[in-house]
Amino acid sequence: MSDTSKAGVRPVLSVKNLKLHYFTSKGAVRALDGVSFDLYPGETLGLVGESGCGKTTTGVALLNMPSPPGRIVEGSILIDGTEIVGLSDRALRRDIRWSKISMVFQGAMNCLTPVYTIRELMEETWNEHSSGNDPQGTVEALMIKYVRLVGLPENVLDRYPHELSGGMKQRVVIAMALFLEPKVIVMDEPTTALDVIVQAQILNLIKGLKRDLGLSYIFITHDLATEAEIADKIMVMYAGKMAELGDSEKIFGPRGPAHPYTQKLLASTPRLRKRVSELAFIPGSPPDLIDPPRGCRFAPRCSFAKAKCFSTEPPVAELGPGHLVACWKAMEDEEYERT
Ligand SMILES: Nc1ncnc2c1ncn2[C@@H]1O[C@H](COP(=O)(O)OP(=O)(O)OP(=O)(O)O)[C@@H](O)[C@H]1O
Ligand SMILES: [Mg+2]
Repeated sequence: MSDTSKAGVRPVLSVKNLKLHYFTSKGAVRALDGVSFDLYPGETLGLVGESGCGKTTTGVALLNMPSPPGRIVEGSILIDGTEIVGLSDRALRRDIRWSKISMVFQGAMNCLTPVYTIRELMEETWNEHSSGNDPQGTVEALMIKYVRLVGLPENVLDRYPHELSGGMKQRVVIAMALFLEPKVIVMDEPTTALDVIVQAQILNLIKGLKRDLGLSYIFITHDLATEAEIADKIMVMYAGKMAELGDSEKIFGPRGPAHPYTQKLLASTPRLRKRVSELAFIPGSPPDLIDPPRGCRFAPRCSFAKAKCFSTEPPVAELGPGHLVACWKAMEDEEYERT
């Protein structure tokens, strides 16, 4: 099922029933267990959910770049019409990663190799993800272009990571994700480690780049307020599955989300202008992904759960245009409203 129908426009990224499991000595961790969505050119899809729900796993799966002992076990990823599940690692490195889809990794700004200058780090990315030939000096021109585009002076190329502030390092990491000119960029918590002022600057930068370059983003964060600011549509994940997907206006609008999990997530977000005696929280914790519960994986923590929720997994249903929900209660409520 397509999440949004856009007549005549081909999605830049189309994901179908994607599963990535980590094969540990204790068993297979089903961290991504059948997720489908489309991303259209110029769109930002926000990915949210509690820690461990599979956000980073989804991000790395989109580059077919699982960390060991992970492996894509099922599904399809079409990037700009090219199927990347099943491609060899060599083909992925040369033709797909960074040139078609790139990623700003969670915490990447703190992992820049300290002994290389920014120029050397960017050259390494170029060598790894292109033919390596550069007869016309294109790589130098691209490095300068993108370092400037992210608001840094050209001479940053000759500096070492430890000479830069956190905000500058994050801009470098974004420039590195951009400079092979991919269509889709996965950003995994790109502003989490920054103070609020720098956070706002980086968010504005990301928004500006999208506007000016027509980029499409998968934007991962646990911070719903940031998603409300940046995402066109939101996918809420719970225990490796999609709980709800819809336009930001729908999820954050007056009627609010349809899935009890999304409702709880929103209720647990602190609000500056609303004084509450105690912040809401979701009792219990996410399930073990080696042996997840039968039925709806959220049922053990859901105050609306009925017998059916514990026995039968809810299918993904389309409640309205582009609004997908996997929840028996949400489906019943919606049917009730329609009659
Ligand atoms: N390399 C790995 N080996 C085994 N299990 C893993 C590995 N990486 C992630 N997992 C497991 O997969 C599940 C999803 O992890 P993931 O990192 O995708 O979550 P996340 O939503 O990004 O969390 P966070 O918000 O904390 O970044 C978790 O249960 C995690 O323990
Ligand atoms: Mg993560």
